[in-house]
Amino acid sequence: MQQHLFDINRQAHHQFLHPNKMPWEQVRDEEELDFIATSLCGHRDDHDKVVAYLYKELAQLAEIEMHVASTLVQVICEASRDNARQLWAGTELVHTLSCFAAEEIQHANTFYQYIRELSGRDIKTADNMFAARAALYEGEESPRVKLAALCATAYVGESVITVFEKRMKALDPQVKSPFTLLLYLHGLDEARHIKADHYAIDHIVTGLSRSELQQVADLIAKTEHYNAELSRQCTERVKQEFGLDYAEGNYVGLGADGHHQRAAQRDPVRRNGTPRRRAPGQCHPQAGRGVLDVRPRTRLRLNLFTRSTSNEAVHGYESRP
Ligand SMILES: [Fe+2]
Ligand SMILES: [Fe+2]
Repeated sequence: MQQHLFDINRQAHHQFLHPNKMPWEQVRDEEELDFIATSLCGHRDDHDKVVAYLYKELAQLAEIEMHVASTLVQVICEASRDNARQLWAGTELVHTLSCFAAEEIQHANTFYQYIRELSGRDIKTADNMFAARAALYEGEESPRVKLAALCATAYVGESVITVFEKRMKALDPQVKSPFTLLLYLHGLDEARHIKADHYAIDHIVTGLSRSELQQVADLIAKTEHYNAELSRQCTERVKQEFGLDYAEGNYVGLGADGHHQRAAQRDPVRRNGTPRRRAPGQCHPQAGRGVLDVRPRTRLRLNLFTRSTSNEAVHGYESRP
């Protein structure tokens, strides 16, 4: 019995995100809109801008989460065949991946409910590329290879959204805002997913052959390609639907007087036309880029082939109430 693997979800039935935990009737309160506009766009009146920004970010995240959930189910089913290369003995990894998949589909469900409630809109895209993204993981690669690639791509977004959550918690320590609550509850689940990712990195990737590692790298590259395309489509669709650029006049942080400053006010480099890096959660100045749009391969090189225990400092949720 791999007790540490089983222990990842020991408290999952007590600490989890479910849409029924959300105070939906408060999502569009004036005070809440003021708070998220101030926190994410720098100005209390930026209601339309912050709604558009969150629509783009959370819709994109929900689409990725649906893909993660369905691919995890596929890996579980493929690894359960008699002739599959052994991925597990016993039930611990099945249990871990099943909890992971179930939570991801509830995240997608909750994020979509949130942005529809927040915006009063229900935006559909012509093609969310789900079939193409799912097909990437329907090949002959072993379940180990597929799981390693999926965890490596999910890990980046899970880490970045955790930083976003911590930023909102710093601005709203008592979690009065429904948006902070959404990120907090989501973070309870993500802390477990990150532990599952670490398991894949430490125990599965290290056992792969050179050719299997190449397969992992290929799957990661293709997944990233679709995730980037998804981001581009979400950005275009949201800008078109809302008729505004949520990144225009973005700010980069607090000035010496304690007030938010627009990027162009504070940063002479940006004044000259070169945008600086955003902190997670800030509106983004570059079309097509958002919270999840970091360079995954760079992070992967740092994390995939090393034991990434330092990330526990970022994802340390053990003492949460
Ligand atoms: Fe998630
Ligand atoms: Fe996750």
